[in-house]
Amino acid sequence: MVRAWVTTTRSGGKIGFAVVRDGTGYLQAVVAKQEVPEAVWERFRSLTQETSVALTGVVRIDARAPGGVELSATDVTILGESKDFPITPKEHGTTFLFEHRHLWLRSRRQVAIMRVRHEVVQAIRDFFYERDFVLVDTPLLTGSIGESAGTLFETDYFDLGKAYLAQTGQLYLEAAAAALGRVYCFGPTFRAEKSKTRRHLTEFWMVEPEVAWYTSEDNMRLQEAFVSYIVERCLERRKSDLEVLERDVTPLERVTPPFHRLSYTDAVTKLQSQGSDVQWGSDLGADDETRLAQEFDRPIFVYNYPREAKAFYMKENPDDPRTVLCNDCLAPEGYGEIIGGSQREDDHDRLLARIREEGFPEETYRWYLDLRRYGTFVHSGFGLGVERTVAWICGIPHIREAIAFPRQMHRLYP
Ligand code: 4AD
Ligand code: MG
Repeated sequence: MVRAWVTTTRSGGKIGFAVVRDGTGYLQAVVAKQEVPEAVWERFRSLTQETSVALTGVVRIDARAPGGVELSATDVTILGESKDFPITPKEHGTTFLFEHRHLWLRSRRQVAIMRVRHEVVQAIRDFFYERDFVLVDTPLLTGSIGESAGTLFETDYFDLGKAYLAQTGQLYLEAAAAALGRVYCFGPTFRAEKSKTRRHLTEFWMVEPEVAWYTSEDNMRLQEAFVSYIVERCLERRKSDLEVLERDVTPLERVTPPFHRLSYTDAVTKLQSQGSDVQWGSDLGADDETRLAQEFDRPIFVYNYPREAKAFYMKENPDDPRTVLCNDCLAPEGYGEIIGGSQREDDHDRLLARIREEGFPEETYRWYLDLRRYGTFVHSGFGLGVERTVAWICGIPHIREAIAFPRQMHRLYP
């Protein structure tokens, strides 16, 4: 007996076919009118898309059937009927599909994307486990601002004033790195992004490793090993899902270390010579990122951005104090930044000066400054956005399909 949902049906006068899916795959079921009681034949013929059924019968090898086997059904029980399922094989608009995201998830492409995401997440965990990193879960309700003040979700927190939803686990992870050496956190993060780009969600998953004694150079080496590992795992274990998505895997097969490295300053010169109006000092926009990455056949690192373009915690570059020791990792094929990383400012006074410059409330960073007061240490880390990585590996245009229930500025349903 198989319990499953009906995907498609087809029947002639004497024989009926139904493709059903049970979550693990698809199975073709056949019923011959002459071989079953009249009632079974009628029930089988009445099946509609997404009806849940129990099918009894014999499974036979059949090379022509999807999945290579076919079920000759002798009985069919309708478990849950489904009238006028809203998502049909015809084309639907994006808005309609997201309005029905809870049902759209059942479709072939969406299932394939979720399986790739699952593999990416497992690869992330395995990579760090194999390298003796310790998982440390960081709080989602926080008192101090982790990234930019402009994208905070706040909420009232009892008598203590405001709490913020975590934009990053990094600051807490730095404390954990001083305890355990190599650590990572992995969970949802929140940004009140008012932009409606194809690269931004308001809730997204980020994995962040933090390593004691790592310089910015060490950090980039870890990143290229990490990204290559994730891609390789998907190529190895999710080939059939990538096929469903019609993903050309040749660009993915080239993702191996070393990644090309380009300083921010050289990147700006290059972009300007190609006609971009980017000015030294500002962060790179999506178009600039796409243009830069286009020239290379694998992800690239752009390193040492101007300090005013980046977060307060990044270490001042001793060779050029206008810049900080950091890098972004840009994916090829127009996917842009998938990683932001940096060496952290380990000098107490410089860090305090940066916190003051940003106008952040000093009191809430007392604990963070303590890390520089008690045995300060060279350390680096980075954050990889899961949805951007999944979108790139799947070759889908928008990251909102890379998570089951995307949260965007204009979407909270379903
Ligand atoms: O570059 P970001 O802001 O870096 C950090 O949060 C650091 N604290 C990480 C660290 O050093 N531990 O974000 C890191 C990554 C980006 O490269 C991007 O992939 C993803 O997180 N990201 C988003 N993904 C989806 N929607 C958004 N609004 C995102 N903002 C960042
Ligand atoms: Mg960034």
